[in-house]
Amino acid sequence: MYRTHTCGELRLSNVGNEVSLSGWVQRTREMGGMTFVDLRDRYGITQLAFSTHDNDELNQKARKLGREFVVQVKGEVIERSSKNKNIPTGEVEIKVTELNILNAAKTPPFTIEDETDGGDEQRMKYRYLDIRRNTILDKLRLRNKVALETRKFLDSVDFMDIETPYLIKSTPEGARDFVVPSRMNQGEFYALPQSPQTFKQLLMVSGIDRYYQIVRCFRDEDLRADRQPEFTQIDCEMSFVEQEDILNTFEGLVKHLFKTCRGVEFTEDFPRMTYAEAMERYGSDKPDIRFGMEFKDMNSVAQNKGFKIFDDAELVLGIVAQECAVYTRKQLDALTKWVQRPQVGAKGLVYCKYNNDGTFKSSVDKFYSQEDLQAWADLTGAKPGDLMLVLSGETNATRSQMNDLRLHMGDELGLRNPNEFKPLWVIDFPLLEWDEDSNRYHAMHHPFTSPKTEDIALLATDPGKVRANAYDLAMNGVELGGGSIRIHDKTLQAKMFEHLGFTDEEAKKQFGFLMDAFEFGAPPHGGIAFGLDRLVATMGGSDSIRDYIAFPKNNAGRDVMIDAPATIDDAQLEELALKVEIKD
Ligand code: AMO
Repeated sequence: MYRTHTCGELRLSNVGNEVSLSGWVQRTREMGGMTFVDLRDRYGITQLAFSTHDNDELNQKARKLGREFVVQVKGEVIERSSKNKNIPTGEVEIKVTELNILNAAKTPPFTIEDETDGGDEQRMKYRYLDIRRNTILDKLRLRNKVALETRKFLDSVDFMDIETPYLIKSTPEGARDFVVPSRMNQGEFYALPQSPQTFKQLLMVSGIDRYYQIVRCFRDEDLRADRQPEFTQIDCEMSFVEQEDILNTFEGLVKHLFKTCRGVEFTEDFPRMTYAEAMERYGSDKPDIRFGMEFKDMNSVAQNKGFKIFDDAELVLGIVAQECAVYTRKQLDALTKWVQRPQVGAKGLVYCKYNNDGTFKSSVDKFYSQEDLQAWADLTGAKPGDLMLVLSGETNATRSQMNDLRLHMGDELGLRNPNEFKPLWVIDFPLLEWDEDSNRYHAMHHPFTSPKTEDIALLATDPGKVRANAYDLAMNGVELGGGSIRIHDKTLQAKMFEHLGFTDEEAKKQFGFLMDAFEFGAPPHGGIAFGLDRLVATMGGSDSIRDYIAFPKNNAGRDVMIDAPATIDDAQLEELALKVEIKD
């Protein structure tokens, strides 16, 4: 038997017990004739004590132990003379009588400590060592707990966990597919699912009624802190429901998860905001409502004063940074540079300080009198001591730039507390989105999303204005999940395909199986999918999902540990009847 206890288990009540422990050597300290070893496993750290006085040979052996050696010890639990109140096992130690080295270890490339000296690349290359650190382990624990509580909750309300295939045909979720060649069907390819969307709808036709799956999804898209090429969804679908039923059910799930996994209780209903309002007030479909700094349309006070840039703009938009009139020229220049970076794309930034003495100082004083600037303050709600920041241009672009600036200011001013959680349902998304490149409308969510009944007539006249029964759950500026009520009527579905520019043949080729299924009695249905990685990272107070995934990919989509993707050998290519030609 390798161990009677884990390294996190022993307490004063165990004093006198003969025990055996196994684990990794965290560190060794020599003090006179004594040697102390911290033995670590997933559960904690226990101090081992050796002494020349008791057994010199054993003590010498202990002194030779290197970091991360795997050892087994036997001995007696004794009370420590100098106690460590910082760890649960800190009142005891093991007076070791037997030490077995189970495996020696090379010196790890970085320290296995909470604060490691390992850089990102090293940590990813040796991710299995990184996972030995508590900081990562705690994140994986949280993830495990969230997945477990998700299953408990959904099971308790009759959801059935059903697996759907990974080797499928392209799903229309808007990103590129990862494809897999088929040996048995040469020249043909499977696509890895961007989500189980069509399958979960088919399961509703099957009468499953309530489906869920904690499922891997694959999307070949540009990567960011909150995007991985393979990520996990809590994917759900329900029959005989309206939007309200879905929102209530899954608000329940999210409340349950925060309570059981994070100790955070949401006592109120989650607030709701339409997409249109979110864009107007925050320039984002996932607003961070932990702080104010809402957008103010300044056209009425900023235009027609001779400042051409504002006069020519479709929208002049302002935000107020409270108590920031003290910003120096240098700080304001830095902000201007920040919004001018290509990632943000603003041409420039106008500022106006509302000084404590009641005067105004702006970067456009040439065009605006003190009275004019007072009107700015009246409109934006700025108070003495505040700073107004103004951007202008085409409506959507200006909103998007201002959203970036608002979040940046929120970060700079410490207004985005990672331990505060502000959920928000964003509802009434547009059904369609105009795509400049292809010069046609695309489904904003996916082609099975139903339009609001009262907006169906607009499909023929003003398609961009049609609202969908689609919703997202945003929290702290992150889109945690999204879904919709689906179309279950084949006439309406055919109409949708027509508006999306699909010919009958194209629609049949891509979605024929679903349209066929809908001929056999499809119940009204709808669903939602949460990004598990994002949900857990948000709960953990982090913007980056990578640390919450055991083996993530880097920003180039590579797994640097196993070195993937990689070429395959000629024999494999031969079997697949594929020839690789790299085009430059
Ligand atoms: P959607 O595409 O909005 O909806 O995805 C649902 C949620 O999945 C998460 N997510 C991601 N997380 C990490 N990396 C990614 N690359 C990534 N892409 C998406 C987000 C997002 O809110 N089938 C529909 C759901 C439905 O209609 O029921 C779907 O997949 O948190």
